Amino acid sequence: MVKTYKILFICHGNICRSPMAECIMAELLKDANIENVMVASAATSSEETGNDIHPGSQAQLKAASIPRRPHSAHRMTTKEADEANLIIGMDRANMINLRRMVPKEQYNKLHMLLEYTGENRDVDDPWYTGEYSVAFQDILNGCKALLKKLRQEGTI
Ligand code: 4NP
Repeated sequence: MVKTYKILFICHGNICRSPMAECIMAELLKDANIENVMVASAATSSEETGNDIHPGSQAQLKAASIPRRPHSAHRMTTKEADEANLIIGMDRANMINLRRMVPKEQYNKLHMLLEYTGENRDVDDPWYTGEYSVAFQDILNGCKALLKKLRQEGTI
């Protein structure tokens, strides 16, 4: 059992999916009284730097009574990647970009969220689909499955 375990959620812009994942996971951890895990989120691009969580994602969080966290979108830094225990992307494009952004020795940290539900598919980007509720449900399922795995294997 590590003292502090760090999970970094990643998407393209860091305004729609990864901040939802960060807020959802923080709430699941709080509900489970787990205090030794830190969650954060970041982007593979710089396109939305400085921007807040997308209103569509904020609305999903609010509807589920999940508190939003202070947010300023940013591209993942080397320090964040170095310090993370897990770096979790939302789709295949994120994973391709992440493999360009982290050294090979850190590839074992890279996972796609829906791996944990046993599905080999993307969390589709609501920025393009407009389907924020679908993304929310996928992310909730992925985060629940991730939490279950980390607890079962005694990592947290
Ligand atoms: P996200 O969605 O990766 O889930 O935050 C996007 C947000 C912004 C853009 C693309 C996807 N964009 O092209 O600016």
